[in-house]
Amino acid sequence: MPSNTFSQRLLTWFDKYGRTDLPWQIKPTAYRVWVSEIMLQQTQVNTVIPYYQRFMQRFPKVQTLAAAELDEILHQWTGLGYYARARNLHRAAQQICTEYLGELPTNLEGLMRLPGIGRSTAGAILALAHGQCYPILDGNVKRVVCRYYAVDGSPGESKVAKTLWRLAEQNLPTERVAAYTQAIMDLGATVCTRSRPQCVLCPFSHDCAAHQNRQETAYPVPKARKILPVKTTTFIMLQNQLGEVLLEKRPPKGIWGGLWSFPECSTAVETWCQEHLNSTAPKCYTWRTLRHTFTHFHLDITPVLMQVDACQIVALRETNWYNTTQTYGLAAPVVRLLAQLTSPKTGELLL
Ligand code: ADE
Repeated sequence: MPSNTFSQRLLTWFDKYGRTDLPWQIKPTAYRVWVSEIMLQQTQVNTVIPYYQRFMQRFPKVQTLAAAELDEILHQWTGLGYYARARNLHRAAQQICTEYLGELPTNLEGLMRLPGIGRSTAGAILALAHGQCYPILDGNVKRVVCRYYAVDGSPGESKVAKTLWRLAEQNLPTERVAAYTQAIMDLGATVCTRSRPQCVLCPFSHDCAAHQNRQETAYPVPKARKILPVKTTTFIMLQNQLGEVLLEKRPPKGIWGGLWSFPECSTAVETWCQEHLNSTAPKCYTWRTLRHTFTHFHLDITPVLMQVDACQIVALRETNWYNTTQTYGLAAPVVRLLAQLTSPKTGELLL
């Protein structure tokens, strides 16, 4: 390998500065790499590390994951967000056990047929676990490539994406593919960062097109921002005499699918009470509205707290009086509200 190629310079940089002690770099089996790559989608390394360690302790093999209850997987995922990732991991683990005798496929097509595995994740598994020569193109890598070649147009456009895959493929080395793959992710995460890249530390500073033009932060070209619509809902926080609050399991499809949340009300609260409580409406405390943002919309949530008697509740799906010993997945705003309910400062939040 000539020493001045893109890959060689990157590998030389990696040997000096790359990360080699991340938990998924120890025994990088396909299963371990797969779980880490899924957790690392849209989530920072430092956030992922404790979740990854707990997950691997509880589900050390694809068989353990396949046999687990989804509730428990979602419980382990609570706080990481984007729960479709956990549901897909579970479904894919079951598929791997039934269709592939418990071994992840070792080819791109087989991996990409599994739920939640796209081309980049499949490439990462093949490169990091098996040293196979496949490119990856996650957010960090897209940024490095867009800047190095000053790629115009947003990576979200299919024509641009095609160019990026071609460039990523073209730069792959024939040896040390696993190290190269980790290296390009590390460079993107630690040097070629989004808002303040450290170009003085970069092995590509003298021929990076964006840097030559002092246009680093103009790349990657952002996609046109859409104004997100705002939806509204009311969370009914029913609290019994023991201080426990009622949670309801959400249907498997749709937002927060399979997670536990407060019963929701889309009508007037009084109407909801007439339909679900066998009593006159209890005293209601309306809390300040909080916003949760999904990929495609904002959800403005108004929590309403009421003290009730356990036996009064009717016509809800699967429910449970929540106390902190339970192990199932909770939607992020529910975690926040539960913490506020048990915090002595709760009173401050009342309107
Ligand atoms: N982001 C995505 N994959 C990663 C990995 N293997 N190490 C560090 N950051 C990553």
